[in-house]
Amino acid sequence: MSLKPGQRAEVEALARLFRCPRCASESLAWNFPASLKRLPEEGALNCSGCQTSYPLRDGILDCLAGAAQREVITPFQRLMQFPPIAAVYETYWRPLGFFIASSSSFRRFAADLIERIEPDARTNILDLACGPGLFACPLAARTPGWVIALDLSLPMLRRARRNALRQGLQNILFVRGNAFSVPFRSEAIEAVLCSGALHLFDRPESALAEIARILPRQGRFVCQTTLRPKHSAGLASFLHHIIRFGFFESAEKLNELLQRSGIQVDLAWRRRIIHAFQARRL
Ligand SMILES: C[S@@+](CC[C@H](N)C(=O)[O-])C[C@H]1O[C@@H](n2cnc3c(N)ncnc32)[C@H](O)[C@@H]1O
Ligand SMILES: [Zn+2]
Repeated sequence: MSLKPGQRAEVEALARLFRCPRCASESLAWNFPASLKRLPEEGALNCSGCQTSYPLRDGILDCLAGAAQREVITPFQRLMQFPPIAAVYETYWRPLGFFIASSSSFRRFAADLIERIEPDARTNILDLACGPGLFACPLAARTPGWVIALDLSLPMLRRARRNALRQGLQNILFVRGNAFSVPFRSEAIEAVLCSGALHLFDRPESALAEIARILPRQGRFVCQTTLRPKHSAGLASFLHHIIRFGFFESAEKLNELLQRSGIQVDLAWRRRIIHAFQARRL
């Protein structure tokens, strides 16, 4: 599948969205073949601040390459790094888990969340903790711009990329990175979607601070997370303590956290433990 006219320049311009996760320099440049016929699969994004070279391998830019793993990875997050889990996740786990948690259809819910990003009006969108690309792909199909699909897990990113290739999508950049320290410049990302992940993060406040940093004023943030079950304290305790599948105590507590991060919720809706909201950076 060859690049459309002008797409090479767009790919090159994507380097301007990045900030070195190691030294915070904003001076990064691609190194890939001069005669690009298709989306780059191999190459590197080089930082001239600290000379780190972030490799692009099999179409995935690894912004964690060589980084010491200092972050706390919860057991549930670790599970997501396991290839067989990544394989069953998109077909069975996500839709079924969502239905059990909300008594409603994941497909319809996802379509609504995507709509709230207003993809048609964006030049770039970040799908944070993208998993196998259940949101990144439809967003890319809708936007005239670019989707950056970021996840910690390589198996998830590989599945996301495979799904994108199958759908003929050429406008997604896959990035391995950490939500607690994302490799983007301040105010560089027009809209962020984060679905099914905020409650899994060990430090959601760090992820929210990063989201607020990379969005411009009024930039949109759309999110699906979970709230503590109102009944069934035993199940809540199991999920929380055994697999560290987190949830926020209440919508009010979550809103306080968002507010402290400089994010204002404009609209929120709940179906059992599933909680979603549309917000903007103040
Ligand atoms: C339940 S999946 C959600 C995937 C997708 N957003 C969806 O809604 O189907 C959670 C994802 O969060 C990713 N993740 C967990 N911790 C992360 C972190 N610190 N930074 C980036 N991604 C992370 C996992 O690898 C996993 O793919
Ligand atoms: Zn650097």
